[in-house]
Amino acid sequence: MSVIKVHDKSFEIYLSEETILLRIKELAAEIAKDYTGKRPLFIAILNGSFMFASDLFKYLNIEAEICFIKLASYKGMKSSGNVVTSIGLDDDLFDKEVVIVEDIVDTGKTLHNFLPKLVHQQPKSLKIVTLLHKPEATEYPLQLDYVGFDIPNKFVIGYGLDYDGLGRNLKEIYQLV
Ligand code: IMP
Repeated sequence: MSVIKVHDKSFEIYLSEETILLRIKELAAEIAKDYTGKRPLFIAILNGSFMFASDLFKYLNIEAEICFIKLASYKGMKSSGNVVTSIGLDDDLFDKEVVIVEDIVDTGKTLHNFLPKLVHQQPKSLKIVTLLHKPEATEYPLQLDYVGFDIPNKFVIGYGLDYDGLGRNLKEIYQLV
C-alpha cells in the first residue's frame, strides 16, 4: 500500500525498505572503516532510533558496544526540543569513542541541548549518525558525521518514527501528503 492513514493524516511512501537497508549497510561499512580497533560505544536515542540502531548495529562488523537512552522532547507533529532529562545513561564516557545514533535531526535542538551533557563526561571522541536529516529545518546547526538521507522539510513516519504514537512499526518511511 502506498498511501496510508494514521490518526487524521494521510502519508505516502517515501523510502522503501530496500532503499533504507541498502543505505544502512553503506553507513555501517563507512563507520566500521573509521572505528576499526577503537571499540566505539553507540548511544541510541529512544524511542525513534530503535529500528535504525538495530539494523545499523547488525551490519557493523567491528567490536562495538551499544546502549539506549531516552530523552523527553517531542509531542505530536511539533518538535519542542526541550530535553528534560536522559534516562539510562549509566556508562562512564570518559576516554570513550562515542557515537550518538539518532533517527532524525529536524531543528537540531534536541541534540544541541543534549550534547553538552555528554561532552562534560570527556569522551575521547563524539560523533553523530542520523538516518534522516531535514537541512531546511535547521535552527541549531550541528556537525552530523554520518547522514543516511537528507530529506525535505516534511513530516515523516515509519521505521521507528511516529505520529502521536503510531507508525513506528512500518518497514518503510512515509511522508505527509
Ligand atoms: P529536533 O530537536 O527538532 O532536531 O527533533 C528531533 C526529534 O524530533 C527526533 O528525534 C524525532 O523524535 C522528532 N522528529 C523530528 N521530525 C520528525 C518527523 O518528521 N517525524 C517524526 N518525528 C520527528
